[in-house]
Amino acid sequence: MLSKSIEAALNQQIRIEAESSQTYLSMAVWAEVKGLEGISSFMYDQSDEERMHMLKLIKFVNERGGHAHISELNAPNVSFKSFKFMFEKLLEHEIFVSESINELVHISLQEKDYATHNFLQWYVAEQIEEEAMARTILDKIKMIGDDKGGLYLFDRDIQQLTVNSAAETPSA
Ligand code: FEO
Repeated sequence: MLSKSIEAALNQQIRIEAESSQTYLSMAVWAEVKGLEGISSFMYDQSDEERMHMLKLIKFVNERGGHAHISELNAPNVSFKSFKFMFEKLLEHEIFVSESINELVHISLQEKDYATHNFLQWYVAEQIEEEAMARTILDKIKMIGDDKGGLYLFDRDIQQLTVNSAAETPSA
């Protein structure tokens, strides 16, 4: 059974994952409108993954005798000054999510809720991967600079990155 404070903290995380999904959906739309098909498809996949993160939390809260809360969400940005800027925002956002997961882990230990602590380990591992992927992408973008041909190749290759990371992610 979840304590009220753990339930509230998990519900806050449900909201964060839902907002993450909307944030990446908005990025996918922006890239699609700009004709960046590969980047757009990558962002649509990221958005789906965040929804899966949210659903996994919802199921956990409900299974542990809590009540998952579906809340109002903050609207994401709808336009970005460049695709580089957009990926910087993605990394920034993932760092924010990691901090939030760390805080949750901290609370679960404080309350000696080892079931929740164990459940959260999946998110800890996922955040390491997501931050690493965002950093790898940003390194590639820095190499491209203003080279249009480089952007063309990047947009093509990022689809491959999505396929690879999807193949590595076990269905949760
Ligand atoms: Fe679910 Fe990318 O944080």
